[in-house]
Amino acid sequence: MAQLIDGKAVSQRIKDEVRAEIERDGLTVGLAVVIVGNDPASRVYVNNKKKACEMCGIKSYEYALPEETTENELRELVRTLNDDPNVNGILVQLPLPKHITEKKIIKTISPKKDVDAFHAENVGRIVIGNYAFLPCTPAGVMELIHSTGTDVAGKECVVIGRSNIVGKPMAMLLLHENATVTICHSHTKDLAAVCRRADILVSAVGKADFVTADMVKEGAVVIDVGMNRNAENKLCGDVKFDEVEPKASFITPVPGGVGPMTIAMLMKNTLMAKRLQSK
Ligand code: GUN
Repeated sequence: MAQLIDGKAVSQRIKDEVRAEIERDGLTVGLAVVIVGNDPASRVYVNNKKKACEMCGIKSYEYALPEETTENELRELVRTLNDDPNVNGILVQLPLPKHITEKKIIKTISPKKDVDAFHAENVGRIVIGNYAFLPCTPAGVMELIHSTGTDVAGKECVVIGRSNIVGKPMAMLLLHENATVTICHSHTKDLAAVCRRADILVSAVGKADFVTADMVKEGAVVIDVGMNRNAENKLCGDVKFDEVEPKASFITPVPGGVGPMTIAMLMKNTLMAKRLQSK
């Protein structure tokens, strides 16, 4: 039977550390959160980010813009926030409405305030290992792996999914800790066989019940980044938990695994942004 990895507890510890550091040094830290349109899931994420700011003693500035906002209007807001000394971090919630090109918006965010680490400059820094900000979800996954006491060096790690937000940076962070990393995607041949090699399996596919027991090696650490709704509209991950859990050594639940970590790492990055801008 696997041990559950408690994302809530680990994320609370990180938020407590952020709060303690802000209080100790008497810092004023601000995060601007921008949301465009009415996507209900995005609304929930943004509210959770605001709550986490309150918990950490970070001032949050919310900009909820209507669906019809133009690309130029959004870029203008981002430029204003780039120049605002009260704003240390800028987060533009994705996805954006279809008429706005995400790449153009991300490019407009000052790399020093890019607490998502989505800007090409920060992505490049991650690849060469000279980074200030770590991408929130992959960095949260690394914290969860560390919390199990697993040494990543030399381990076979398989990441399912190659998105810019999770899969690709996840592979980089594992590589920085000297893992042997394989990234799988929709063209991968015999996915189950590749996944069965994994000492650490990270799934970021976005499909309920995608990872089944036959894809998991006995004793593997299984990290589920998925955030899906099943047929009964219940929140679930990518992993078929009931059948995978008995084979794993450690496994993250959904909810309560990776989700809270993303927000905790965002708080950490916002504090880091403040430090960078004070230099
Ligand atoms: N949408 C889903 N995940 C994220 C994230 O980590 N950051 C932003 N900005 N949008 C998201």
